[in-house]
Amino acid sequence: MANLQLLPEPLSVRGEIPFYHAKSAEEFRADVYERYDELVTRQTALHLADELHGAYPLQAVADYVLGQLPPGEDLTLADVGCSVGRLAAELLRAHPGAAVYGIDFSYQMLRQARAYWVQGETLRPNLFRYGYGSPQLPGHHLTRLQFALARAEALPFPDHSLDAVVNSFLIDRLPNPLAAFAEWMRVLRPGGRVITLSPLNFLRPEAWREWHPPVKLLHALQAAGWEVLDWTDPLWLTEPMDVRGNAIQWSTLAFTLLRR
Ligand SMILES: C[S@@+](CC[C@H](N)C(=O)[O-])C[C@H]1O[C@@H](n2cnc3c(N)ncnc32)[C@H](O)[C@@H]1O
Repeated sequence: MANLQLLPEPLSVRGEIPFYHAKSAEEFRADVYERYDELVTRQTALHLADELHGAYPLQAVADYVLGQLPPGEDLTLADVGCSVGRLAAELLRAHPGAAVYGIDFSYQMLRQARAYWVQGETLRPNLFRYGYGSPQLPGHHLTRLQFALARAEALPFPDHSLDAVVNSFLIDRLPNPLAAFAEWMRVLRPGGRVITLSPLNFLRPEAWREWHPPVKLLHALQAAGWEVLDWTDPLWLTEPMDVRGNAIQWSTLAFTLLRR
Protein backbone atom coordinates (compact mmCIF):
# COMPACT_ATOMS: atom_id res chain seq x y z
CA MET A 1 0.00 0.00 0.00
CA ALA A 2 1.21 3.48 -0.75
CA ASN A 3 2.32 5.14 2.46
CA LEU A 4 1.89 8.91 2.41
CA GLN A 5 3.23 9.30 5.95
CA LEU A 6 6.67 7.81 5.76
CA LEU A 7 8.63 10.93 6.59
CA PRO A 8 9.55 11.33 10.26
CA GLU A 9 9.73 14.60 12.20
CA PRO A 10 12.26 16.79 10.33
CA LEU A 11 15.27 18.50 11.91
CA SER A 12 13.88 21.81 10.67
CA VAL A 13 11.50 23.24 8.08
CA ARG A 14 12.23 26.09 5.67
CA GLY A 15 9.70 27.41 3.15
CA GLU A 16 7.57 24.30 3.90
CA ILE A 17 10.46 22.02 2.87
CA PRO A 18 11.37 19.56 5.65
CA PHE A 19 15.13 19.25 6.23
CA TYR A 20 16.62 15.85 7.16
CA HIS A 21 20.16 17.15 7.01
CA ALA A 22 21.33 20.11 9.05
CA LYS A 23 22.78 21.87 6.01
CA SER A 24 25.44 24.28 7.17
CA ALA A 25 26.14 27.74 5.71
CA GLU A 26 29.36 26.31 4.28
CA GLU A 27 27.47 23.42 2.62
CA PHE A 28 25.01 25.94 1.12
CA ARG A 29 27.90 28.01 -0.26
CA ALA A 30 29.70 24.99 -1.70
CA ASP A 31 26.61 23.52 -3.38
CA VAL A 32 26.41 24.62 -7.02
CA TYR A 33 22.78 23.41 -7.16
CA GLU A 34 21.80 26.17 -4.72
CA ARG A 35 22.59 28.77 -7.43
CA TYR A 36 19.14 29.87 -8.39
CA ASP A 37 19.96 32.02 -11.42
CA GLU A 38 22.16 29.42 -12.99
CA LEU A 39 21.23 25.83 -12.22
CA VAL A 40 17.65 26.09 -10.94
CA THR A 41 16.80 28.18 -13.99
CA ARG A 42 18.44 25.68 -16.34
CA GLN A 43 16.57 22.79 -14.71
CA THR A 44 13.34 24.78 -14.99
CA ALA A 45 13.90 25.39 -18.71
CA LEU A 46 14.70 21.72 -19.29
CA HIS A 47 12.00 20.07 -17.18
CA LEU A 48 9.10 22.53 -16.84
CA ALA A 49 8.96 24.44 -20.14
CA ASP A 50 7.89 21.82 -22.70
CA GLU A 51 6.28 24.40 -24.97
CA LEU A 52 9.70 26.00 -25.64
CA HIS A 53 10.96 22.70 -27.04
CA GLY A 54 7.79 21.33 -28.68
CA ALA A 55 7.74 18.41 -26.20
CA TYR A 56 9.37 17.30 -22.98
CA PRO A 57 13.05 16.83 -23.98
CA LEU A 58 13.67 14.07 -21.42
CA GLN A 59 10.51 12.06 -22.06
CA ALA A 60 12.74 9.02 -22.71
CA VAL A 61 13.89 9.16 -19.07
CA ALA A 62 10.31 9.09 -17.79
CA ASP A 63 9.44 6.30 -20.25
CA TYR A 64 12.38 4.17 -19.14
CA VAL A 65 11.64 4.64 -15.44
CA LEU A 66 7.89 4.04 -15.80
CA GLY A 67 8.58 0.89 -17.83
CA GLN A 68 10.88 -0.53 -15.13
CA LEU A 69 8.70 0.02 -12.02
CA PRO A 70 7.67 -3.06 -10.08
CA PRO A 71 4.14 -4.32 -10.78
CA GLY A 72 1.28 -2.81 -8.76
CA GLU A 73 -0.62 0.46 -8.58
CA ASP A 74 -0.29 1.82 -5.05
CA LEU A 75 3.47 2.02 -5.06
CA THR A 76 5.63 3.95 -2.61
CA LEU A 77 8.34 5.67 -4.62
CA ALA A 78 11.22 8.11 -4.15
CA ASP A 79 12.98 10.15 -6.83
CA VAL A 80 16.39 10.96 -5.37
CA GLY A 81 18.14 14.03 -6.80
CA CYS A 82 14.70 15.14 -8.02
CA SER A 83 15.71 18.80 -8.66
CA VAL A 84 12.57 20.64 -9.89
CA GLY A 85 10.42 17.51 -9.55
CA ARG A 86 9.48 16.55 -13.11
CA LEU A 87 10.19 12.83 -12.84
CA ALA A 88 8.44 12.61 -9.45
CA ALA A 89 5.40 14.29 -11.00
CA GLU A 90 5.45 11.89 -13.97
CA LEU A 91 5.48 8.95 -11.54
CA LEU A 92 2.41 10.31 -9.75
CA ARG A 93 0.57 11.13 -12.97
CA ALA A 94 1.11 7.56 -14.21
CA HIS A 95 0.23 6.06 -10.79
CA PRO A 96 -2.32 8.36 -9.10
CA GLY A 97 -2.62 5.98 -6.12
CA ALA A 98 1.11 6.05 -5.44
CA ALA A 99 2.94 7.90 -2.69
CA VAL A 100 5.78 9.81 -4.37
CA TYR A 101 8.60 11.53 -2.50
CA GLY A 102 11.02 13.91 -4.21
CA ILE A 103 14.33 14.08 -2.38
CA ASP A 104 17.15 16.49 -3.14
CA PHE A 105 20.06 18.13 -1.34
CA SER A 106 19.33 21.58 -2.78
CA TYR A 107 16.80 23.77 -1.02
CA GLN A 108 16.50 26.06 -4.05
CA MET A 109 15.59 23.15 -6.34
CA LEU A 110 13.03 21.82 -3.85
CA ARG A 111 11.48 25.25 -3.33
CA GLN A 112 10.98 25.60 -7.08
CA ALA A 113 9.61 22.02 -7.28
CA ARG A 114 7.07 22.57 -4.52
CA ALA A 115 6.00 26.01 -5.78
CA TYR A 116 5.33 24.64 -9.26
CA TRP A 117 3.98 21.11 -8.65
CA VAL A 118 2.17 21.42 -5.32
CA GLN A 119 1.30 25.08 -4.78
CA GLY A 120 0.32 25.78 -8.39
CA GLU A 121 2.47 28.90 -8.74
CA THR A 122 3.12 30.33 -12.18
CA LEU A 123 6.87 30.48 -12.77
CA ARG A 124 8.43 33.19 -14.90
CA PRO A 125 12.05 32.11 -15.32
CA ASN A 126 14.49 34.54 -16.87
CA LEU A 127 15.59 32.64 -20.01
CA PHE A 128 16.73 35.66 -22.04
CA ARG A 129 20.31 34.37 -22.11
CA TYR A 130 19.06 31.28 -24.01
CA GLY A 131 16.87 33.33 -26.37
CA TYR A 132 13.60 32.10 -24.85
CA GLY A 133 12.64 35.35 -23.10
CA SER A 134 10.63 34.94 -19.89
CA PRO A 135 7.83 32.42 -20.49
CA GLN A 136 4.92 31.96 -18.09
CA LEU A 137 4.78 28.41 -16.76
CA PRO A 138 1.50 27.77 -14.88
CA GLY A 139 1.93 25.26 -12.04
CA HIS A 140 -0.08 22.28 -10.78
CA HIS A 141 -1.79 21.10 -7.61
CA LEU A 142 -0.37 17.61 -7.13
CA THR A 143 -0.92 17.68 -3.39
CA ARG A 144 0.16 14.04 -2.89
CA LEU A 145 3.65 14.92 -4.05
CA GLN A 146 6.04 15.48 -1.12
CA PHE A 147 9.46 17.10 -1.30
CA ALA A 148 12.19 16.87 1.32
CA LEU A 149 15.83 17.85 1.71
CA ALA A 150 18.13 14.93 2.46
CA ARG A 151 21.32 13.35 1.20
CA ALA A 152 20.98 10.45 -1.23
CA GLU A 153 23.28 8.51 1.09
CA ALA A 154 21.13 9.13 4.22
CA LEU A 155 17.44 8.99 3.35
CA PRO A 156 14.72 9.79 5.92
CA PHE A 157 12.78 6.56 5.22
CA PRO A 158 12.46 3.50 7.48
CA ASP A 159 14.04 0.19 6.48
CA HIS A 160 12.18 -1.78 3.76
CA SER A 161 9.59 0.97 3.20
CA LEU A 162 9.82 1.75 -0.54
CA ASP A 163 8.89 -0.11 -3.72
CA ALA A 164 11.37 1.80 -5.86
CA VAL A 165 14.12 4.38 -5.66
CA VAL A 166 14.61 6.16 -8.96
CA ASN A 167 17.37 8.58 -9.84
CA SER A 168 18.36 10.40 -12.99
CA PHE A 169 21.62 12.28 -13.64
CA LEU A 170 22.62 11.82 -10.00
CA ILE A 171 25.16 9.06 -9.38
CA ASP A 172 28.04 10.75 -11.23
CA ARG A 173 27.60 13.77 -8.89
CA LEU A 174 28.06 11.65 -5.74
CA PRO A 175 31.47 11.29 -4.06
CA ASN A 176 30.70 7.64 -3.28
CA PRO A 177 27.96 6.16 -5.48
CA LEU A 178 28.16 2.74 -3.78
CA ALA A 179 27.29 4.32 -0.42
CA ALA A 180 24.08 5.62 -2.00
CA PHE A 181 23.22 2.19 -3.44
CA ALA A 182 23.77 0.64 0.01
CA GLU A 183 21.36 3.19 1.50
CA TRP A 184 18.82 2.45 -1.24
CA MET A 185 19.06 -1.25 -0.44
CA ARG A 186 18.24 -0.41 3.19
CA VAL A 187 15.06 1.52 2.36
CA LEU A 188 13.75 -0.89 -0.32
CA ARG A 189 11.46 -3.77 0.55
CA PRO A 190 12.51 -7.20 -0.76
CA GLY A 191 11.38 -7.21 -4.40
CA GLY A 192 11.84 -3.44 -4.62
CA ARG A 193 13.89 -1.83 -7.39
CA VAL A 194 16.46 0.85 -8.03
CA ILE A 195 16.05 2.49 -11.42
CA THR A 196 19.06 4.58 -12.43
CA LEU A 197 19.88 6.66 -15.45
CA SER A 198 23.20 8.49 -15.69
CA PRO A 199 25.61 9.80 -18.33
CA LEU A 200 28.47 8.68 -16.01
CA ASN A 201 30.02 12.07 -16.70
CA PHE A 202 32.01 12.05 -13.44
CA LEU A 203 33.26 15.18 -11.73
CA ARG A 204 36.51 13.75 -10.31
CA PRO A 205 39.40 12.01 -12.14
CA GLU A 206 39.48 9.26 -9.47
CA ALA A 207 35.84 8.48 -10.20
CA TRP A 208 36.65 7.96 -13.90
CA ARG A 209 39.43 5.56 -12.91
CA GLU A 210 37.11 3.74 -10.53
CA TRP A 211 33.97 3.47 -12.70
CA HIS A 212 34.98 3.61 -16.35
CA PRO A 213 34.16 1.47 -18.29
CA PRO A 214 30.75 0.85 -16.68
CA VAL A 215 31.31 -2.90 -16.39
CA LYS A 216 33.22 -1.95 -13.22
CA LEU A 217 30.02 -0.52 -11.80
CA LEU A 218 28.08 -3.59 -12.91
CA HIS A 219 30.46 -5.93 -11.08
CA ALA A 220 30.49 -3.76 -7.94
CA LEU A 221 26.68 -3.72 -7.81
CA GLN A 222 26.46 -7.47 -8.31
CA ALA A 223 29.08 -7.98 -5.58
CA ALA A 224 26.94 -5.79 -3.30
CA GLY A 225 24.05 -8.26 -3.73
CA TRP A 226 21.92 -6.58 -6.39
CA GLU A 227 20.29 -8.59 -9.17
CA VAL A 228 20.47 -6.73 -12.48
CA LEU A 229 17.09 -6.77 -14.26
CA ASP A 230 18.04 -4.44 -17.11
CA TRP A 231 21.25 -2.82 -18.40
CA THR A 232 20.72 -0.46 -21.34
CA ASP A 233 23.86 1.22 -22.66
CA PRO A 234 23.69 3.67 -24.31
CA LEU A 235 20.37 5.38 -23.97
CA TRP A 236 20.86 8.60 -25.94
CA LEU A 237 19.29 11.84 -24.74
CA THR A 238 19.34 15.36 -26.12
CA GLU A 239 19.34 18.34 -23.76
CA PRO A 240 18.36 21.55 -25.58
CA MET A 241 20.50 24.59 -24.73
CA ASP A 242 18.92 27.52 -26.53
CA VAL A 243 16.41 28.75 -29.06
CA ARG A 244 18.94 28.37 -31.88
CA GLY A 245 19.00 24.59 -31.44
CA ASN A 246 22.34 24.10 -29.74
CA ALA A 247 22.13 20.97 -27.63
CA ILE A 248 24.07 18.47 -25.53
CA GLN A 249 23.98 14.83 -26.55
CA TRP A 250 24.17 12.52 -23.52
CA SER A 251 25.19 8.90 -23.85
CA THR A 252 23.51 7.63 -20.72
CA LEU A 253 23.55 4.26 -19.02
CA ALA A 254 20.14 3.12 -17.77
CA PHE A 255 19.76 0.14 -15.47
CA THR A 256 17.36 -1.51 -13.08
CA LEU A 257 18.33 -3.45 -9.97
CA LEU A 258 16.26 -5.84 -7.91
CA ARG A 259 16.60 -5.99 -4.14
CA ARG A 260 16.25 -9.67 -3.35
C1 LIG B 1 22.40 17.04 -12.52
S1 LIG B 1 21.04 17.37 -11.45
C2 LIG B 1 19.87 16.20 -12.07
C3 LIG B 1 18.47 16.55 -11.76
C4 LIG B 1 17.38 15.66 -12.37
N1 LIG B 1 17.26 14.40 -11.66
C5 LIG B 1 17.59 15.42 -13.85
O1 LIG B 1 17.52 14.26 -14.28
O2 LIG B 1 17.79 16.39 -14.59
C6 LIG B 1 21.57 16.63 -9.94
C7 LIG B 1 20.61 16.87 -8.78
O3 LIG B 1 21.03 16.03 -7.70
C8 LIG B 1 21.06 16.79 -6.51
N2 LIG B 1 22.10 16.19 -5.65
C9 LIG B 1 23.44 16.25 -5.80
N3 LIG B 1 24.07 15.55 -4.83
C10 LIG B 1 23.07 15.05 -4.05
C11 LIG B 1 23.06 14.23 -2.87
N4 LIG B 1 24.18 13.82 -2.31
N5 LIG B 1 21.87 13.90 -2.35
C12 LIG B 1 20.69 14.31 -2.91
N6 LIG B 1 20.65 15.08 -4.01
C13 LIG B 1 21.82 15.45 -4.57
C14 LIG B 1 21.38 18.21 -6.94
O4 LIG B 1 20.96 19.14 -5.96
C15 LIG B 1 20.61 18.29 -8.25
O5 LIG B 1 19.28 18.74 -8.07
